[in-house]
Amino acid sequence: MTADLNCPYTVAKLFALEGKSALVSGGSSGLGLIMAKGLLQNGVRVIIASRKQKKCDQALEELEQYGECYAVIADVTNQDDRQALVRETANRFGGLSILINNAGANWGAKLEEYPDAGFAKVIDTNLNAVFSLTRDIVPLLEQAATPEDPARIINIGSMDGIHVPIVQRVPTFAYSASKAALHHLTKSLAIDLASKHITVNAVAPGFFESRMTDYVFEHFRQDIEDDCPLHRVGEPEEIVGIVAYLASRAGAYTNGTVIPVDGGTSISKGSRPWMD
Ligand SMILES: NC(=O)c1ccc[n+]([C@@H]2O[C@H](COP(=O)([O-])OP(=O)(O)OC[C@H]3O[C@@H](n4cnc5c(N)ncnc54)[C@H](OP(=O)(O)O)[C@@H]3O)[C@@H](O)[C@H]2O)c1
Repeated sequence: MTADLNCPYTVAKLFALEGKSALVSGGSSGLGLIMAKGLLQNGVRVIIASRKQKKCDQALEELEQYGECYAVIADVTNQDDRQALVRETANRFGGLSILINNAGANWGAKLEEYPDAGFAKVIDTNLNAVFSLTRDIVPLLEQAATPEDPARIINIGSMDGIHVPIVQRVPTFAYSASKAALHHLTKSLAIDLASKHITVNAVAPGFFESRMTDYVFEHFRQDIEDDCPLHRVGEPEEIVGIVAYLASRAGAYTNGTVIPVDGGTSISKGSRPWMD
């Protein structure tokens, strides 16, 4: 039997990203910065967007060594900022191949002390802003999309949108509700945008090191690892890997899914020894 040399099933071909363009909200730190780095290292042109000038400048300095990257100062919860971000994306790239809705916020407090403002801020950042930015940037995604190579929207959800979080001790009511809603929004957008050749999926990470998880890592790392069937936290490559899959030829037929990347934490029963 001779090998079929025309067979396109090589990993290099299936996962190729070269020539695409991406917007990563919250790309100045944590998972967003990791994803931006991963995309740039694979030939994708990237815009990162976040609120703070200094963080954007520092991130850009690091990212520019890998490829064509731009930073836009934008608060995704602010309508004027979002519109400016869409304009800047159009000016830089024209059509947009990949939108990663990653910017996120959290708030932890006991029920009786949980402020309305904290709840609203989390829902506004993690849910409302994703909806509004997605709606406003669809024309750019449409411009880059073809039936063979759809444009991709990747929403960064959370395993906390799948199960009720157990490690933090301090309840994060708005966060888990916002991520559960984001997972569901992902599915309705996937159906709505399919006719425009745009796929929409969510990644639901478990624990990865970032500014958002600094506190829990410092205080509860052992619990986090105990709670995960693989007994460890996630590594940067494991987020880049899932994004490369969803953004490439390999993931072109995956649509409307929520993919946990959590070592199995969201399906494990976990233990709450401090509550016994
Ligand atoms: N790390 C984990 O273990 C984990 C697990 C599950 C899900 N996630 C999700 O992953 C995403 C990234 O979180 P992370 O852990 O990487 O946290 P992070 O290091 O705190 O990063 C959050 C990013 O979002 C930006 N941001 C926050 N609010 C924004 C706003 N209103 N407009 C624009 N940018 C904003 C921040 O930059 P500025 O402060 O400059 O705006 C920062 O770049 C979030 O959606 C989070 O819920 C993380």
